[in-house]
Formats: sequence, structure tokens, C-alpha cells
Amino acid sequence: MPAVRVQKHEAEKVKNLLKKLGLYDGKRRPKREENFVLLPVISSPKLMELGFEVIDVELPFRPERQIYKNLKSVLAEKLTKEELAYLRRYDIIGDIAVVQIPKELEHRQRDIIEALLIVHPFVKVIAKRGVHEGKFRVRKYEIIWGEKRLTTLHKENGVKIKVDLGRVFFNPRMKGERYRLAQLVQDGERILLMFAGALPYALVIARFKNVEITAIELNEDAVKLGLENIELNKDKLRGKIKVIHGDVFEVVPKLGTFDRVISPTPKDIDALSLALGEAEKWVHYYDFVHEDRFNEFKKRIEKECQKLGKQCEVRIKKIADYKPHVYKVCADIMLF
Ligand SMILES: C[S@@+](CC[C@H](N)C(=O)[O-])C[C@H]1O[C@@H](n2cnc3c(N)ncnc32)[C@H](O)[C@@H]1O
Repeated sequence: MPAVRVQKHEAEKVKNLLKKLGLYDGKRRPKREENFVLLPVISSPKLMELGFEVIDVELPFRPERQIYKNLKSVLAEKLTKEELAYLRRYDIIGDIAVVQIPKELEHRQRDIIEALLIVHPFVKVIAKRGVHEGKFRVRKYEIIWGEKRLTTLHKENGVKIKVDLGRVFFNPRMKGERYRLAQLVQDGERILLMFAGALPYALVIARFKNVEITAIELNEDAVKLGLENIELNKDKLRGKIKVIHGDVFEVVPKLGTFDRVISPTPKDIDALSLALGEAEKWVHYYDFVHEDRFNEFKKRIEKECQKLGKQCEVRIKKIADYKPHVYKVCADIMLF
């Protein structure tokens, strides 16, 4: 990912200038290298025009704010140590707090609600989350406090995303991953986004890069929200997004190939060969893999590429914990 290399004594001044120009990437940390500092930036032709030395380097992401810790400290006054150990991570989606309350803490629900409202006074709904269900991967929710709605406006990576948790899949924890992809993409690319949902990936990529995205989604409610989301962000988007309502397995084979294919694949669906077949240069394929089977997964991808007469380089990246020893992973695949 891009960084500007500057002399140490100029670093502060250049950092302020980059911030002013909207080119500084505050999500990654700068790094010292002897007499130089590497400042993380958003890729833009403007950097070259300004005469900066731009290099490609992996700078670490800043950790997400540990809001969970604040909730824990508020609850520490009421819950026992044993009870605190059962407390799970929660999400703030727009003005909705989504919590998990394990059965060991059900008798503490009132305390958890009160503590959440101290830490997040702007929240209007608190919902308890259930499991993902059906082919649209929508979760079941129970509203345990506040207004009776599951629609809200969520802000992430500089875009507004209208969501309806009762009808459409949405995972706020993929914010960093969407940003990572947006930084890998180059201006001018033609991108296929399969399993597009309400378009969080498409919006974030199109916000940062001047690209053409074709997004496919089967859930009609998600398609409607996606179109609303394009309208909501139209002044900010550098790229174009076209949405097709349909089944990827029927629609995609008729579309021809793309520079890059992104597949946030729903659990238990195998779209690997479809994604590889439609891509010319890059595929980002998401799946759920046991920690002992990473190598097997990589081999499967290489074999699939071979079948299609393509060569590939595969890097498997852990994205999130799914269940003990099983991770949500992204295979970044370069084709040549
Ligand atoms: C894991 S969700 C990802 C959604 C979106 N990319 C996101 O991250 O919010 C998978 C999505 O694929 C959609 N879906 C499931 N099967 C599909 C199919 N055969 N064709 C197109 N979309 C499908 C679901 O409705 C759901 O929105």
C-alpha cells in the first residue's frame, strides 16, 4: 500500500499538508526508517504531481477503538468477575446497538442495557442478535430496548450505508477489510462484486477509486437498499456502480470477464470456480476455513486455476474469528 517517504525533519510538515489535501491515510501507522519517515497515504496521482517519493510498503493498521473495554469497566461495578468473563463483543450500527447475551448473563440483561446507554447515549435501539438464516444470510434479532425498528443509517469509511438488519445482511466488522480492498484497487479497473448485499464493499471502493463496479445480489430488499445507498453517496463516489438483481450463478457467466472479482461468499456456497473464471488479474475470495486446512484451501485454489488454464499466486489472509479454530479468510489471488 502506498506511503510517502520523507526526511525525518520534514515529516510533521508533510503530514499536515497531506491531511489538508485529504491524502493522509489515518487508518495506518507511520513508520520510522533511519533518517526517513514513511507516511501512509491514499493512492492518488496528485502525490506524484506534488513531487513526493511514493513507495509500496505494508504499514500496520491502527487497532479499532476498544469500546468493549468501556462497557466492561461500567459493568465491573455490578457484575461478578465470573459474569464479566461471559460478556461478548457488541456492535454499534448507526444508532442501533447489537448485543449478544449468553444464557449465563440473561439475568443481567437490564444491567447490560443500562451500561450500554451510559457508554453510547445516542443509541435509540438495542437488539439482541441471533444466528444468520436462509440464503440471504439475514440474522434474527430481538429488540430489547428502544424504538421498534431495525433500519438505520450507518457511517463507515466516509460513506453512508442505509441498512435494514431484519431484511438484509450487514457486518460492520468488515470495515477494515473493505478499506483494505479499496486501497488495493487501481483507478480504471472493471470490477465484479458477487453477493453484493446493500453494497458496502462497492460504496467504499467507489468512494476511493475511479472504477466501474458491477454488483450482483439475489435479495430484492438488498438491491433496493443498494440503489438508495448509491443515491445517498452520489456526491462522494469517484467510481460507478451498476447493480443487477439476480442469482450470480445465472447472471455472471453472461457478463464476460473483469479485471478483478470480489466474492464475499455466503457460508456453504462454493463460487470459487465461477469467480476465478471471470477474473483477468485479481480475485478476492472469502470463505470459512479451519486453521488446519489453510494449505488444503490454497491447493484447491491452485488446482482450480490449473483447470481453467491459468497460473496463480495465492495469499490467504485471516479476516475474523468465526468459531473456535475456524476463521473467515480472504484468499487474495493474483492471476497470470
Ligand atoms: C455474506 S452476505 C454478503 C453481503 C455483502 N457483500 C456485505 O458484505 O454486506 C451474502 C449475500 O449474498 C446474497 N446471495 C446469496 N445467494 C446468492 C446468489 N446465488 N446470487 C446472488 N446473491 C446471493 C445474500 O442475499 C447476501 O446479501
